[in-house]
Amino acid sequence: MEEYPVPEEWMQDISRVLFTSEQIQERVAALGQQIARDYAGKSPLLVGVLKGIIFFMADLLRAINIPVEVDFMSVSNYSPEARQQGVVRLVKDLETPIAGRHLIFVEDIIDTGLTLHYLLRSLQARQPASLEVCVLFNKDKRRLIDLPLRYKGFDIPDYYVVGYGLDYREKYRNLPFVGLLKAEALHRGG
Ligand code: PRP
Repeated sequence: MEEYPVPEEWMQDISRVLFTSEQIQERVAALGQQIARDYAGKSPLLVGVLKGIIFFMADLLRAINIPVEVDFMSVSNYSPEARQQGVVRLVKDLETPIAGRHLIFVEDIIDTGLTLHYLLRSLQARQPASLEVCVLFNKDKRRLIDLPLRYKGFDIPDYYVVGYGLDYREKYRNLPFVGLLKAEALHRGG
């Protein structure tokens, strides 16, 4: 496979590569095959929340060899207090009606679980035929709500991770691997 270019000035902010691009691709391919088997004949709708999801969604879609559709939502957090109560603000809703559809909610990372919990409730109220979750990186150390995760890529420790769509203050998303961000980069801020 062709190597992706790496922004050199960001490499110095990474203390360790947690998952290489190859390891991620291998796991995503396996998830795609599993979904294709489980949803044969059903044409599921994959739903993602922008922006961190872009790489995972693009790769997952291409790893599924049955007809699927895709749509996106966008959310923005209210104040930290509101967020603690699990409230998120829907900035962009789905364009696809989902009543009676088989939905797979695709997340890049789940941490506290508050975002997912809120969005699953909102989607469930629209009466899809089924609703399952597919997450690439599951960080359950700080989980506040128990969530049913049908498809899971990797369990990860409670570190700040960036790359493959994951950002710190909008940076590092285009690193092809997922790595740990050095404390000094976190402290330096945006
Ligand atoms: C990430 C991720 C989830 C959320 C998970 O998005 O995509 O939506 O955080 O965190 P939680 O489980 O604690 O609720 P982020 O807020 O980083 O936005 P982004 O996708 O635009 O980077």
